[in-house]
Amino acid sequence: MKIILSGPPGSGKGTQADLLVTKYNFIHFSTGDVFREEIAKKTPIGITVESYVKDGRLVPDEITLEITKNFLIKNKNQNIIFDGFPRTLPQAQGLDKILLELNDCIDYIIFIDLPDNEIVERLTARRTCPNCGAIYNLNFSPPKIPDICDNCGTRLIQRPDDTEEIIRKRLLVYRNQTLELKTYYENSDRMYVIDGSLGRDRVHQEIIKILGLA
Ligand code: AP5
Repeated sequence: MKIILSGPPGSGKGTQADLLVTKYNFIHFSTGDVFREEIAKKTPIGITVESYVKDGRLVPDEITLEITKNFLIKNKNQNIIFDGFPRTLPQAQGLDKILLELNDCIDYIIFIDLPDNEIVERLTARRTCPNCGAIYNLNFSPPKIPDICDNCGTRLIQRPDDTEEIIRKRLLVYRNQTLELKTYYENSDRMYVIDGSLGRDRVHQEIIKILGLA
């Protein structure tokens, strides 16, 4: 099964992907996570994409599609959750082309919607673990010990693109470059829209109902 989790920044894509990976047999492919790892390791790709990610702009499609193609070739026939990819029309068309070459396709496209004011509130309160990737929220799901990851004990960080100024830029980028994907997918009977303002577990229940896993 191949699923796309789409939606504005902070709508809960990563949180929901983690829940699905923990409970079911999925591999989580987040282009944002891939770019952050490359930046941390200072690889040639990391050096190229760093300014885009820090400024909240989209990384060029060719780089994003190249990374995705390599990942899909390595993970043929796996159950995959695409988190934050595709993000532009050329990426969506590129993904369809790669999957066709691999004799595969997308089964479900799920958009998680959330109003801008809730997004800013959530993202400025988000903390992440740089070691295991666990996601926390100071308001909704804080760690048991302040600033320390419950899973691995590492000190939590705030993402550099989670300042209010950059969050607002990312929202603009989403509106201008990603939202049109709803039109691209809406004619298929595989697209669903979920209200992301429901609590984390309610959103998860909605998703597993759609996927027929409930
Ligand atoms: P990326 O890492 O993909 O960021 P994003 O899409 O902006 O999404 P986020 O990770 O910020 O949010 P999320 O929806 O995963 O929310 P989360 O679950 O953490 O991309 C970063 C950058 O990389 C981009 O700006 C771009 O530069 C580049 N990039 C990535 N992919 C690219 C692509 N395909 N093409 C080009 N460039 C690309 O939740 C947010 C917070 O809310 C957390 O604190 C969480 O605990 C809390 N929360 C979650 N769900 C709930 C709930 N239901 N109720 C209450 N709180 C909740």
